[in-house]
Amino acid sequence: MKILIIGSGGREHVLAWKFAQSKRVKEVIVAPGSDGIDEEAGCRSAKIQEDDHQGLIALAKTEDVALTMVGPEAPLVAGLVDSFQEAGLTVFGPSKAAAKIEGSKQFAKDIMRKYQIPTAKYESFTDLDKAKAYVERVGAPIVVKADGLAAGKGVVVAETVEEALEALDDMIGGRKFGEAGASVVIEECLRGEELSYMAFVHGRTVVPMVTAQDHKRAFEGDTGPNTGGMGAYSPVPHLDGDWLKEADASVIRPMAEAMVEEGVPFTGILYGGLMITEDGPKVIEFNARFGDPEAQVILPRLKTDLLEVIEAVLADEEVKLDWTGNACVGVVLASAGYPGNYEKGTTFQLPLVDDSERQRWFHAGSKKNQKDSDAIWQTNGGRVLLLSTLAPTLSDALSETYNVLGKSSWDGLFYRKDIAHQLK
Ligand code: AMP
Ligand code: GLY
Repeated sequence: MKILIIGSGGREHVLAWKFAQSKRVKEVIVAPGSDGIDEEAGCRSAKIQEDDHQGLIALAKTEDVALTMVGPEAPLVAGLVDSFQEAGLTVFGPSKAAAKIEGSKQFAKDIMRKYQIPTAKYESFTDLDKAKAYVERVGAPIVVKADGLAAGKGVVVAETVEEALEALDDMIGGRKFGEAGASVVIEECLRGEELSYMAFVHGRTVVPMVTAQDHKRAFEGDTGPNTGGMGAYSPVPHLDGDWLKEADASVIRPMAEAMVEEGVPFTGILYGGLMITEDGPKVIEFNARFGDPEAQVILPRLKTDLLEVIEAVLADEEVKLDWTGNACVGVVLASAGYPGNYEKGTTFQLPLVDDSERQRWFHAGSKKNQKDSDAIWQTNGGRVLLLSTLAPTLSDALSETYNVLGKSSWDGLFYRKDIAHQLK
């Protein structure tokens, strides 16, 4: 059968690669896809954009696609899954109404409050003066979040009241994130380590995955601005164990239940961004899709056929997932300047990996450079590439990853040299 994946980043590349391994999958089509995905055996791009619902539906029908999966949040929040369902197509992802769990911080927080799912204390505001008065009353540190989607950049963890006030001026006053920031959530600053906990969900059916830890800040030592994620690893041995059982029982399952109770049952990948605090796991955010770069370190560890997992979950069977005992590390290469302004068109070469069975390049903001035969690739986005390595231990995976990255000079790109520094 044929599978259709919507998106063009590293997450969609790993999804395409994973689906292509299924014996029952003849071809994976990715729209709009990328040149990197075109290099993957059994995969090809179709240059139809994520917001072209009718174009994507026509593609799925002409190609007789059996299952569609939507990678990024924007098309989910825009209702692409609803359009596919109305056209009678099978799709694994949340409806527009359920994707609000990611599309509106306030929507997600209100459900967490109502169903007592542990999360940071918060208030929501649209009025600049009232928001400022609240910040001045509560004091710092405090977190200011744009309500809507802002590509992972709409969150300011303010260490001082001044920083928080400035963020409010930017978001509500200056519309830095457009209408996404017209409404803000201001919340308590949680301390602890972050853990990404994801599950395949269909209504009340919840099949959790192994966990991963992402690195949100741009620079080493967790400094610099928040990004979409600069690298990840799985498993997270020092945070797994009892926390995980607690997160399962107090966060992921109750949220899936709550969505059913609210009349907006969730289908797809439910992503809990958790802070492991002294008082146990608390939710920082829910996402309505696979994490990027978490998917690039979790899916290489999955031994079960991804297609069969999704089919089982859609049939409400609690399928058991089989994971390799190997660890996986992923390090992102980003354009200099990301997450702020950056240039496109910087050329680079891809160093050969040491062992192609265990190491893979996943492409995101890259494209083939036709003009220059020496440098085959060029940058075309903020996060450009991710190198993912599976190895018996995390420390092997880390040294093998950095060994390959060290073979090139990466002018115009940067990567964090301290992925997994939290390991104890
Ligand atoms: P979000 O987009 O909600 O995931 O937030 C981006 C990042 O900001 C998170 O990964 C955390 O590092 C940080 N953050 C968000 N909310 C909080 C909070 N309440 N306390 C501390 N850090 C937070
Ligand atoms: N890596 C975090 C996210 O995908 O939201």
